[in-house]
Amino acid sequence: MKKVLKWIGIVLGSLIGLILLAGIVMIMIGNSRLNKTYDFPPSNITIPTDAASIEYGKHRAETLCQGCHGPDLSGIDAWFNAPPIGLISSPNLTSGAGGIGANFTTEDYVRAIRHGIDPQGKAIFMPAVPSTSQLSDEDLASIIAYLKTIPPVDHTVTSRRFTLLGYILFGAGKFIMPAEIVSHATHVTAPARGVSVEYGEYMVNTNDCRACHGEQLNGGSSPDPSETWVSPNLTPGGDLASWTEEDFIHALRTGSAPGGKQLADIMPWKTYKNFTDDELKAIWMYLQTLPKLEQYTE
Ligand code: HEC
Ligand code: HEC
Repeated sequence: MKKVLKWIGIVLGSLIGLILLAGIVMIMIGNSRLNKTYDFPPSNITIPTDAASIEYGKHRAETLCQGCHGPDLSGIDAWFNAPPIGLISSPNLTSGAGGIGANFTTEDYVRAIRHGIDPQGKAIFMPAVPSTSQLSDEDLASIIAYLKTIPPVDHTVTSRRFTLLGYILFGAGKFIMPAEIVSHATHVTAPARGVSVEYGEYMVNTNDCRACHGEQLNGGSSPDPSETWVSPNLTPGGDLASWTEEDFIHALRTGSAPGGKQLADIMPWKTYKNFTDDELKAIWMYLQTLPKLEQYTE
């Protein structure tokens, strides 16, 4: 009997040891992914100073950046907060106390928005980078020009932190850092602005639609692992097949879909309502050209 117990003890002890070892290896892998530094050639993009470009940069920031960095771009404390995994705030982009604006150079902005890395070269968790990395040089430069003009707001947000489980999940490849997957092109061009399928595709690619509606836009799981929703199909295989262009524009402006359904706030219509009519028409035009796909299910 004693012998059996001893053997059970040895087996259990070794198992726990192995699990601990695997955990430590995962933490080490996670840690090295988080601390890896990246380097890319400078973009040398020219920041415009004319009023029209700055106004356009403001427009792009209102439709995309404000949703995550707040209406005055002073950051949102604990923007992602899942206590078992960790906490990420979206930083204050202004030059006020606690903001990055006073110290960021043009290339620092390019590194963050296009490459998903901080000024030291380490990957950041800005989930919009797969979209913002596709912004053309001209649009990116306009956004940076606008950021340089925004009024300072004093707001210090909580620093990023991850739990040991967070590190283990990184090590296990459960989270992707945008810097690991985006193209890192040094120069990007865009189709001419206007109501065209090509421009609609560019707007979809640079405004996060695919982050939530899936690579093929036929619906997707939440990019936030702590949420469980699945978004609807935007191809002609989904509800949009029976919508008109007017219905689409109305839905993105008001959050109210045909039939009176109110879209949940997770669908960022409150910032997308700032798209111009032409931008929404171009997006609608592009969505019409997609292949008819079945709704994605998990
Ligand atoms: C989906 C949400 C989201 C959107 C949209 C978004 N950001 Fe961010 N951004 C974040 C988060 C979260 C961080 C912090 C990442 C971290 O701490 O690892 C961040 C970080 C940054 C940083 C700081 C990088 C650093 O090195 O500290 C800059 C600059 C930035 N964002 C600019 C922008 C601009 C400009 C836009 C619009 C074109 C934008 N962001 C859109 C969520 C977002
Ligand atoms: C942060 C995630 C997220 C992003 C980014 C996002 N969506 Fe959505 N979207 C959703 C969710 C979730 C719903 C479902 C809301 C509901 O049913 O209450 C939705 C609903 C919709 C609907 C209504 C579809 C239907 O069948 O009722 C349309 C249209 C739509 N989104 C278009 C877009 C477009 C275009 C973009 C990019 C410009 C976009 N979405 C970006 C999450 C997102």
